[in-house]
Amino acid sequence: MVSQKTIDIVKSTAPILKKEGKKITSRMYEIMFEKHPEVKSQFDMSAQADGSQPAKLATAVYAYATHIDDLASLKSAVETIAHRHVQTHVQPEQYPVVGECMLEAMKDVLREDATPEVIAAWAEAYQALAEVFINREHKIYEEEGVS
Ligand code: HEM
Repeated sequence: MVSQKTIDIVKSTAPILKKEGKKITSRMYEIMFEKHPEVKSQFDMSAQADGSQPAKLATAVYAYATHIDDLASLKSAVETIAHRHVQTHVQPEQYPVVGECMLEAMKDVLREDATPEVIAAWAEAYQALAEVFINREHKIYEEEGVS
């Protein structure tokens, strides 16, 4: 569980994430594809080019920011995303890569609004969300007989 302080800080970033979310996620993919080009093969690059994948990720990040203390309401979104991750062979060890690129992108786009407190809160919040996906995807991989 994330701390109450983290919940409060993450929620306070919701308005700016609503405004700048797509810029952040577009920057996140830019950083990730440059630093880790091997992940490109897992993605539909046309969904990057037309902006639909960065838009989907921004929607998910915003939904998490506003419901970080009510994960039950995100269940159907988590299901959709986890199944897509399994289809595209996402692995647990890839979560820290996305997390680091996401925090770097937040710093690049939000600049002075990405205070050390905001970054620390999002680092903790991201970790908690990553665990939700990793656990769910583990079960789906098991059900499908792959790992
Ligand atoms: C907490 C972290 C993450 C969140 C919130 C997230 C969110 C999403 C969302 C919203 C989608 C779109 C699902 C749909 O089509 O409806 C998606 C797809 C995808 N995600 Fe993630 N994701 C996360 C972590 C990761 C990680 C660690 C990887 C590994 C590289 C990854 C790789 C992918 C891929 C390959 C797709 C399919 C994209 C495509 O169709 O081109 N994601 N994710």
